Amino acid sequence: MIKLELLEDLYVDRLYKLRDAEAQLARVLLKFAQNAESDELAKCFEIHFGTTQTHLDRLEAILGRYSDPLTPRTSKGMRGILAEAKILIAGAVDRGLRDELLVATGETIAHYEIAGYSIALTFARALHFHSDAELLRRTLADERSVERELARFAQALAAEAVDDQDKAVSE
Ligand SMILES: [Fe+2]
Repeated sequence: MIKLELLEDLYVDRLYKLRDAEAQLARVLLKFAQNAESDELAKCFEIHFGTTQTHLDRLEAILGRYSDPLTPRTSKGMRGILAEAKILIAGAVDRGLRDELLVATGETIAHYEIAGYSIALTFARALHFHSDAELLRRTLADERSVERELARFAQALAAEAVDDQDKAVSE
């Protein structure tokens, strides 16, 4: 059992879990890009892979002043999101729908990261860790812009899927 007594303990625990979440994400994003049918979507995942490395670097910069915990802190939330996506994507017969699922997973991840960084930023500000707060604020802004981009993809893909279905029915 991890002992959390002070707000700073919660803060550091959150940062380790974010670091693990980003590391898990870095391991799958290029696979997402390879699986994407749309070149534009593949490009979006590749760019997201690059920003994920930057997010990891920022977390490392903050965590550098703490010693690594004896028990590694894993992000069970990210693990769950990715496990669910793997099952769904494997079961998607239609290649077009696979893009839908990849985008839906990307959006779920973005929202999860936004929540995580938003809390970490609140803690950093409360603790007067100003330089940490600046790094976390930048990452949070990146996550929000990824989410907006994926939301646009989701809308376009959903409209396309309905269009294709309508055409198939009328043929
Ligand atoms: Fe990130």
